[in-house]
Amino acid sequence: MLVTVLSGAGMSAESGVPTFRDVETGLWATTDPYEISSSDGWRRHPERVWAWYLWRHYMMKAVQPNDGHRAVAAWQDYADVQVVTQNVDDLHERAGSTQVHHLHGSLFHFRCDRCQSTYEGPMPEMPEPVETVEPPVCACGGLVRPDVVWFGEQLPAVAWDRSVAAVVASDVAIVVGTSAVVYPAASLPELAIQSGIPVIEVNPEPTPLSGSVTLSLRETAATALPELLQRLPALLG
Ligand code: APR
Repeated sequence: MLVTVLSGAGMSAESGVPTFRDVETGLWATTDPYEISSSDGWRRHPERVWAWYLWRHYMMKAVQPNDGHRAVAAWQDYADVQVVTQNVDDLHERAGSTQVHHLHGSLFHFRCDRCQSTYEGPMPEMPEPVETVEPPVCACGGLVRPDVVWFGEQLPAVAWDRSVAAVVASDVAIVVGTSAVVYPAASLPELAIQSGIPVIEVNPEPTPLSGSVTLSLRETAATALPELLQRLPALLG
């Protein structure tokens, strides 16, 4: 059986990672998310964008996968599980998932914004969030940026192609913790529905998808996922 998991920021919420559209608290509470996750924002003030991503990079070291991540990893003993995530954290991998496709890049990869070469250099320490940090400079003179997809940028072609292939080959798609409003990622559950594949949504809140999926569970990831695989036969009838 091929299970495709389509996860968003809500997947990591119970690990203590704030979602994108929850109200940001603390230092960035008044920051416009577009300003720090867009190429425009990077051009205008790279030192603010770099500080925001550097903080998230370090924050990820302090958080752990939750029962939802661990359940998805455990499903690999019973099915072929492909994880397609909008998240830039590494919690699916740290929980043991081996087939993870990052549609929006990763907090753990960095590249030069001019020559695109991968940055392997030292990462400045960041014991607490600060509003600005100058990004490292590449040997070519370009600035080192996080290897994440900003608004208006293309998704990584390989991750996208593998995600589409996984969705159309699925026996069931589980959509977890996404507001389903950001495209093209949000088109993947729609593709599953149009292909006649059973789609189960796990989200404590309704989303634009809720009315069209096979089943929408108003539950959190860490609550619903540990039992979900065993419940599939009964849920899907
Ligand atoms: N379990 C499951 N779902 C949850 C939980 C939880 N514990 N907590 C919150 N959610 C749900 C929220 O109800 C919301 O629908 O997770 C969803 C999070 O939505 P967003 O914050 O919009 O995150 P996401 O859908 O991943 O955003 C998509 O937008 O900002 C860009 O690139 C960024 O990848 C991100 C994309």
